[in-house]
Amino acid sequence: MKVKLILNHKNRTFEVTPDEYLLDTLRNNHITSVKKGCNQSTCGVCTVLLDGKPILSCSILTVLLEGRHITTVDGIQSEVDKISNYFGEEGADQCGFCNTGLALTIYALKKELKNPTDDEIKKYIVGNLCRCSGYQAQFLAIKKYLEDSL
Ligand code: FES
Ligand code: FES
Repeated sequence: MKVKLILNHKNRTFEVTPDEYLLDTLRNNHITSVKKGCNQSTCGVCTVLLDGKPILSCSILTVLLEGRHITTVDGIQSEVDKISNYFGEEGADQCGFCNTGLALTIYALKKELKNPTDDEIKKYIVGNLCRCSGYQAQFLAIKKYLEDSL
């Protein structure tokens, strides 16, 4: 069956099966910036934005998304570059496997919350797990990105 999505501001049509998850639709169509980790709604590396809000692409069926806006890091590249610079300055970059999903969550956080508290930032990003960083360097990088974006 065919499903039409607006992917990174462009109309796209995908051929999918009824039981296919968005993560597989994207990766099967060479959109490999979206990572596959646990595939069980736990790790957050498959995060994309659905109408601007972070969702786990491994947990939503593509057939439910007709006409909806999906954003990957490829659609917000200049913001991702900025976030990456802050991560580099804070030494938060390690293996990088979590980075694309986290960057999308950080971007959505910036759009949704004005002047978030430390606790609000931590709560917002709680679903994006990182096996390498210990989180503190990431947290400092996110704070600087948000402060400098005001
Ligand atoms: S791959 Fe989707 S949450 Fe881990
Ligand atoms: S930097 Fe390796 S999983 Fe986050």
